[in-house]
Amino acid sequence: MLERVKPLEDILGQAGDIDTALVAVETPHTLKKTLGPISLMAMGIGAIIGTGIFVLTGVASAKYTGPSLTISFIIAGFVSVFAAMCYSEIASRVPVAGSAYTFTYATLGERFAWIIGWALVLEYALGAATVSVGWSGYFSTLMSHIGWQIPQALLHNYWDTGPSGEALHGILNLPAFAVICVIGALLYRGTHESAMVNNVIVTLKVCVVLFFIAIGVGHVNQGNWTPYFPFGWGGTLFGAFFVFFAYIGFDAVSTAAEESINPKRDMPIGIIGSLAICTVLYIIVAAILTGIVSYTHLNVPQPVAYAIDQIPGLGWASALISVGAIAGLTTVLLVMMFGQIRVFYAMSRDGLLPPVFSKLHPKYRTPGLSTVLFTIFIAIIAAFTPISILGSLTNMGTLVAFIFVAIAVPILRKRYPSTTGFSVPFGNWVIPILSAVSAFALIVLGPLLSTGIGHIWGIPLPWFGFIVWLLIGLPIYFAYGRKHSTLAR
Ligand code: ALA
Repeated sequence: MLERVKPLEDILGQAGDIDTALVAVETPHTLKKTLGPISLMAMGIGAIIGTGIFVLTGVASAKYTGPSLTISFIIAGFVSVFAAMCYSEIASRVPVAGSAYTFTYATLGERFAWIIGWALVLEYALGAATVSVGWSGYFSTLMSHIGWQIPQALLHNYWDTGPSGEALHGILNLPAFAVICVIGALLYRGTHESAMVNNVIVTLKVCVVLFFIAIGVGHVNQGNWTPYFPFGWGGTLFGAFFVFFAYIGFDAVSTAAEESINPKRDMPIGIIGSLAICTVLYIIVAAILTGIVSYTHLNVPQPVAYAIDQIPGLGWASALISVGAIAGLTTVLLVMMFGQIRVFYAMSRDGLLPPVFSKLHPKYRTPGLSTVLFTIFIAIIAAFTPISILGSLTNMGTLVAFIFVAIAVPILRKRYPSTTGFSVPFGNWVIPILSAVSAFALIVLGPLLSTGIGHIWGIPLPWFGFIVWLLIGLPIYFAYGRKHSTLAR
C-alpha cells in the first residue's frame, strides 16, 4: 500500500487561510494567534526547568555520577541541542499545531505520524504526571515546614516505596491529582491567560535559579569535586540518560506554532533560545551543587534547597528556593498539558481521532472538552502510578519523537524546497544524523547500562512499556483513524 503523505498546502491551509508567503492567517474558526518571541521563549523555559534540575539532580549525583553530574548534563545537552535545531527548522517552515506529529505526516506519512502522535502522549501526558508527582513532594515538604502534615496515605500510591525500599501501601497522591485539575482549569480558559500566568512564574523560577548560583558560588569547596568520577564513565553516561528528563520541554514550543504571531522568525528563537539559556544554567547549577556539598549527601527530594540549607544562616534562602521550585514545576505542568491537548487537536482535525478532540469551545476557542478529558486522564494516572515508571516512559516517548523529527528534516527540504524559514547549519544531513543517532544511543545505552531499571520478561521496563503502548494504539489506528482520515477521504 502506498503511504499517505499529507501535502504541505493542506497542512498549512488547516491552520487558517494561507497568505502569499505560505503562512496561515487567523480566521474566526482557527486558534487565536497571540504568542510573540518572548512568550514563546518563556513557554520553553517554563517547560524545561523543573523536576530534572530541582529533584533528579540529587539522586543522579548520589547514585550514578558523583561530581561528574556536570558532564552528564553536557552530554544530554548536546543530544537536546541537535534535536532543538531540527525542531526549529520544521516548526518555522510548517507552523501548525501538532509538533512532531504534523512534521511526520508531511514527510514519512500517516502511519508513522500516528505512531508519533501516540508516542507523544507518553512525553506530554505522562511527563505532566511525572512532574506533578515531583511537585507533590516539594509541596508536602513545604507544608510540613509550616506545621501542616499531609497524611502519608494521601501522598503515595499503593506501589510507592520508602527510602529503604519498604512498601508504603498508600491510597493515592492527592496533591498531584489536585494540581493537574487546577492547571486543566487554567488551560480551559485559553492560551492568552495561561501565557500571562506562565510569564510571571517563569521570571520567578529563573530568578530562583540565578539566586542559587549567586549564593552558592561563594561556598564551593573544591574538595567536594574529588573524586570526580566515583562511578566511572558508565555511571556518567547513564546519568546523561537519567537527567535527559531535565531538557524535555523545548519541543513543546513547537506545539504552539499555530498560535505564534510570526512563526518563521519566532519559532527558532523560542525553541533554541529557551534551550540555550537552560543548558547554561543547568551546567552551572550542577557544578555548584556538587561543590557546596559532597555528592554522598545529595540523595534527598530537594537537593537544591538542601545544599543551601547546609550554609550556616541561610535557612530563609532555602525556603525561598522551595517556593520558587514549586512555582517552577507548575509552569512545566502548564506547557506539558498544553502540548498534549494540541497534539490530539491536530490528530483529530485530520480525522485520525474522534472529533471530540478538536471541538473548540464557543467562547474561549480552546479545545474545551479535550482539555477536560485529558485533565481527568492525567490526574488519575498521576494519583496512582510510581514516578520511576512515569519518568522512564516519558524519556522513551520523547526520544522516539526526536528520531522521527530528525529524519523528517532532509525529507521536508527535498520535497518542499520552496518553503522558507530557519535552516539547520552544515547542510541537509549532518545535524539530522547527529540528532537521530544520539537520541537512539540514549534509548539503547540508558536502559542497558542501568542497574536500577526493572525488567519484564527480560525486557527493560521503558522498552516494554513503549511496546505495550504501541500495541494499544495501532488497533485504534486501524479500526478508526485509517477509515476516518480526512486525507484518505
Ligand atoms: N524538563 C522538565 C522537567 O525537568 C520536564 O521537569
